Amino acid sequence: MGHIAMFPEELPKRLIKMFSFVGETVLDPFLGSGTTSLAAKNLGRNSVGYEINSEFKPVIQEKLWGNQLDIFSMDSEVTFEEGSPADISFDRLPYIFHDPHKMDKQVDVKKMQFGSKIDKTEVKRNDLFSVKKVISPDKIELNDGRTVRLLGIKPNLQYQSQAIGFLKDKFTKRKVFLKYDTVRYDKEDNLLCYVYLDNKTFINNHLVRTGFVDVDTSFDYSCQKKFLNSVPN
Ligand SMILES: C[S@@+](CC[C@H](N)C(=O)[O-])C[C@H]1O[C@@H](n2cnc3c(N)ncnc32)[C@H](O)[C@@H]1O
Repeated sequence: MGHIAMFPEELPKRLIKMFSFVGETVLDPFLGSGTTSLAAKNLGRNSVGYEINSEFKPVIQEKLWGNQLDIFSMDSEVTFEEGSPADISFDRLPYIFHDPHKMDKQVDVKKMQFGSKIDKTEVKRNDLFSVKKVISPDKIELNDGRTVRLLGIKPNLQYQSQAIGFLKDKFTKRKVFLKYDTVRYDKEDNLLCYVYLDNKTFINNHLVRTGFVDVDTSFDYSCQKKFLNSVPN
């Protein structure tokens, strides 16, 4: 499970190094998965953060303490406190920002997402396959012996070998997982699939983007519009 809007540790790392000294405290008002705190910890800084979504507690815990079995034996610790930024005594702050723009509507931030979603579409190990053979631009054979068809892909005879080459390259040393549409089988009883690499690269769409295949418009399926938009000009 991961936060959908994580940034790489290198980003806060550079800023923390630039703007603080060892032992100082870094504040991240939008903690998310806790990347800022991780960078702070690894650079010998303390950190404090706000996160509106309590579902991230285990994600933050995992990110900061990962494989360490006993967090209490370490010389630093992570604690969570319930509360809201409103608990801060604003009149004691050295500088108070007054927004000259009047707000014309009130929103309940807790009802909005602001990138605050946990991606629960984790792929289980046994849903992953390897590709034994690329038969044609729209057909592949999986390691379990099944032959499946890439939904929405219409081979273009002119670029057949380029399309096959592209797929072979993508599938080398990678595992794939499959997703299905409402239309499950074609007329020849081939299973129709959206094929994804284990890193979630959407192969059908990437193949369309190469221009080596056409988009199948002979029937309706949910990604048809997306594929048509991916056709290179
Ligand atoms: C873009 S994410 C931050 C991602 C983070 N940099 C990381 O690497 O994981 C923004 C986070 O701010 C949180 N957030 C949004 N509004 C907030 C608020 N008013 N108070 C505290 N957290 C808030 C969201 O729940 C979301 O997790």
